[in-house]
Amino acid sequence: MPELERPAFSVQNLIPLLEEHYGLCCTLEELPGERDRNYLAQEKKGDTYVLKISNACETLEFLQVQNVALERSAKLLEQGRIPQVFPDKNGESLSRVISADGSQHWMRLAHYVDGLPMAEYRPHTRDFLLELGGMCGTVTKALHEIPAPPPSSTLLWEMHNVQETLEKYMPWIKDEKLLGWVKKSLDLYSRTIKALESKLRRGWIHNDFNDYNVLAVPKISGNPDLGLIDFGDMTHSYLAAEPAVACAYAMLNKPDPLEAAALLIRGFHQHFPLEEKELEILFPMIKMRLCLSLTLGAFQQQNDPENEYLGISQKPARELLERLQEVNPRYAHYLFRDACNMEAFPGSSAFRNWYKKAGGSFHGLLGEPLNPENTAVLDLSVGSSLSAKTEGVSLEKQEDILDEYLRENNAEIGVGKYAEVRSFYTAKEFLNNSIDGEEKRTIHLGIDVFAPSGTSIYAPIDGVVHQLQDNQSELDYGPTVILRHKFTDVPEFYTLYGHLGRDCQKQLEIGQVIKGGMQLAKIGNSNENGGWLPHVHFQLILDLFDFNGNYPGVALPSRKKVWSSICPDPGLILGLDGESTAEEIDSGKLLKRRNNVFGPSLSLSYQDPLIIVRGQAQSLIDSRGQFYLDCVNNVAHVGHSHPDIAKAQSNQAYVLNTNTRYLNPLNIEYAERLCLLFPEPLDTCFLVCSGSEANELAMRIASTVSGQQDMIVLEDAYHGNTRANIDISPYKHNGPGGKGAPEWVHEIPMPYLYRGLHRDPQTAGKLYADEVEKICEILSAQGRKPSAFICESMLGCGGQVPLPEGFLQQSYQHVRQHGGLCIADEVQVGFGRAGKHFWSFELQGVVPDIVTLGKPIGNGHPLGAVITTRKIAEAFANGMEYFNTFGGNHVSCSVGMAVLDIMEKEGLRQNALETGSWLKEKLEALKESFPLIGDVRGEGFFMGVELILDSESREPAPLQADYVVERMKSRKILLSTEGPGHNVLKFKPPMVFNQHDAKHLLSELEQVLDESPLQKNLKF
Ligand SMILES: Cc1ncc(COP(=O)(O)O)c(C=O)c1O
Repeated sequence: MPELERPAFSVQNLIPLLEEHYGLCCTLEELPGERDRNYLAQEKKGDTYVLKISNACETLEFLQVQNVALERSAKLLEQGRIPQVFPDKNGESLSRVISADGSQHWMRLAHYVDGLPMAEYRPHTRDFLLELGGMCGTVTKALHEIPAPPPSSTLLWEMHNVQETLEKYMPWIKDEKLLGWVKKSLDLYSRTIKALESKLRRGWIHNDFNDYNVLAVPKISGNPDLGLIDFGDMTHSYLAAEPAVACAYAMLNKPDPLEAAALLIRGFHQHFPLEEKELEILFPMIKMRLCLSLTLGAFQQQNDPENEYLGISQKPARELLERLQEVNPRYAHYLFRDACNMEAFPGSSAFRNWYKKAGGSFHGLLGEPLNPENTAVLDLSVGSSLSAKTEGVSLEKQEDILDEYLRENNAEIGVGKYAEVRSFYTAKEFLNNSIDGEEKRTIHLGIDVFAPSGTSIYAPIDGVVHQLQDNQSELDYGPTVILRHKFTDVPEFYTLYGHLGRDCQKQLEIGQVIKGGMQLAKIGNSNENGGWLPHVHFQLILDLFDFNGNYPGVALPSRKKVWSSICPDPGLILGLDGESTAEEIDSGKLLKRRNNVFGPSLSLSYQDPLIIVRGQAQSLIDSRGQFYLDCVNNVAHVGHSHPDIAKAQSNQAYVLNTNTRYLNPLNIEYAERLCLLFPEPLDTCFLVCSGSEANELAMRIASTVSGQQDMIVLEDAYHGNTRANIDISPYKHNGPGGKGAPEWVHEIPMPYLYRGLHRDPQTAGKLYADEVEKICEILSAQGRKPSAFICESMLGCGGQVPLPEGFLQQSYQHVRQHGGLCIADEVQVGFGRAGKHFWSFELQGVVPDIVTLGKPIGNGHPLGAVITTRKIAEAFANGMEYFNTFGGNHVSCSVGMAVLDIMEKEGLRQNALETGSWLKEKLEALKESFPLIGDVRGEGFFMGVELILDSESREPAPLQADYVVERMKSRKILLSTEGPGHNVLKFKPPMVFNQHDAKHLLSELEQVLDESPLQKNLKF
């Protein structure tokens, strides 16, 4: 490899050369280079350049082609993303220089492109990879038609010479395994390229989209700005080699390398459409680039055995090549076709034509055709009550539920849909590690026919027994038959029958000819069929790949299109026309409908809103069956969709649901149980329907009892959505669209130790309470008195702020001295959330006059309560009746009671205390590593993590907080922001959030905090 000898120059002799040729006075720092010499040139007044001294073997013509390429690419890409050539004093873009050893070289100065090398930039999101592909496509577009003849000499990294290069350098590979992979990969490439070679487009390409040539400038929102450097490996070769090279590097260290490649190819195709034959060779080409890198690396290592770095830098490529040995090249091909919006399986249309024509000629799977008289199509989708009810219960119970459903629908046979999104594939085999964390396989690729075990299954079409296997793992297929079918005008295809009785494995033989209508097997029972209710899973397969006796019956949602092309809808064979195919929720249409029907003041969370169709304990599940860890819902207190809550609600709805005007034990018992949870003298209860109603009533009681109207509130407090509540909520009336506080509302500064007026924990409680006293005195001076002081026991909208010690105690004293009442708003923070106590006011050692309850009280059911003293309740009873149509209704009380039962039974307050304390400690430790975290605060399962830009000024970091929330969402963890600066990450999960969840949250948060856009001191 003679071209690897680098030009003999030193920094000392280059500095005067720079001055002489460019009139620039620069400091120089050498940059890595394989063949050339590159320097970072920093001009005194600030501009930065890269100086390149080309290898002596480089011709002027070739360097001129590079200059054209730079110019053309720069025209198509954003300014500054491609090095711009800086002419010398004579206006030339290349200057001739002589090295110390007397050889002649060409020198070029170009503007420096900043950014982190892609290898160091994190995260490589889906959008990032799309954009990278887009840039790669754009560069190909700019370069491929440069009117210059191909280089006269052969270059090492050229794809069209890869066979010769590998054969020449392969003997240097000492690692036998690696050598085997390289040989196998070369064999695949050689076979594939043979038929394609003459048809593949050729042109000029950059040929080195590697992870150190792609640069990324991190941005706090949106994609980073991408740049590309080093056009020194440009060559004239297959155009497909450009994305292949880029893929080889973009796939390094990825949880699912094919996913990364497919995204890059999608982006590429959008800017420079790839042809079908190019997609055929792409996967073998990707492997070739890896092989080239590993083989030339092995060669270099032999020449430089001391250089340990060489081995280390090859590790990710070796790992990737090893992983790619497992990938069926046809599968990668289909995936890449799909990425380019082509039908994934190339033979699809031939199959479709045959299928349509053959329709009507199929034999019934169960002997007789399925007909609407005895068949019910089941909704087993993630959002259906049928699947929610049958998950997590015994098979007997599942059977009862299904039988009841079929009975109610006068059916004997149930049909489970094709392409349905299901959440009950819980074994770990159904998990895939993707760019966005774990993705579950949820898309059903067959049709299920539910009938009693022992029911005979017949072959719907002529075929041959191709594979037989008993797949015995839990939730697998159990005994399975795969038939092969061959007809004219259609590629060979297969049908799969899963969950059969064991006998078929003995009765059938591989190679046995099966006539349509012949009995194949029987439906298996739950002991033999993988642990399912008796049914047959029937699936069409157009490419069996290397599977033997088993085959994926469920696909990743992100690969739905690919897999439905390989495994088309078998409904037609079963005589089911369309009704057995699940429809996908179209998020765009749903959003439009929502916007049309709801008022625009209702907001949606996240830039790309989630379609949530189900809740389960601490998870929310989206329409693609993906689970999101809910860290913000303090309403689903005992967990989303708790079965005991559903039962309590449903059972009571069968019996009675009316108002409080009749004597009935249920609402009385509930009110008694609630009151027992409070200290004396809080013993009297009003039941309402929401937190807002509770605060409305609390205000009414206070003003009736005190005879006053004036309210004392906290800065940035929120107490509800009604008009009076907005009046006492500075968070709203001082926010966008608000008109400020009415004359009867008086605000004190937020008692906020981290950022507030008083920050010394020893004195802050008193000082903030003094503010309450000040208002009382001002009112007094005007001949007025406070009606009430209302305060959350820990501040929610204020930014998850615990109150300073002594604040409530002293504030209550001042208010009471001036004749006012003290209201504790426990809507957010009650019911054991604080961990140490059942009510958060207990953290402050006070007993309020009125306590308002909402949110968690009904676990999502509209319920609220006001708890006060008998004396106050009596004073409120001034003759005006308090009537609330729904408050205290029996269904709500039944739900409320179930919440209390579950809390006790499942020890949820204790869990909040233990898990919350553990998590807080770990979050505090994170603060040490990430200066972005300014403060970690809270109690139990009510915590805030405040993000700041600067530890001195504590300037809020709202954009960074949004970034974290969005990134955590893409990692399937739901958080949100709070606080006046929108910079506090709030944590208030369902109380069933456990230690495992806490660890998961921490590890994901740590990774996100470490991502490039959040690093302040990046040096490019
Ligand atoms: C502290 C506080 N009080 C009262 C309310 C009002 O409750 P609801 O929305 O159930 O009416 C809220 C709601 O967010 C709240 O956070």
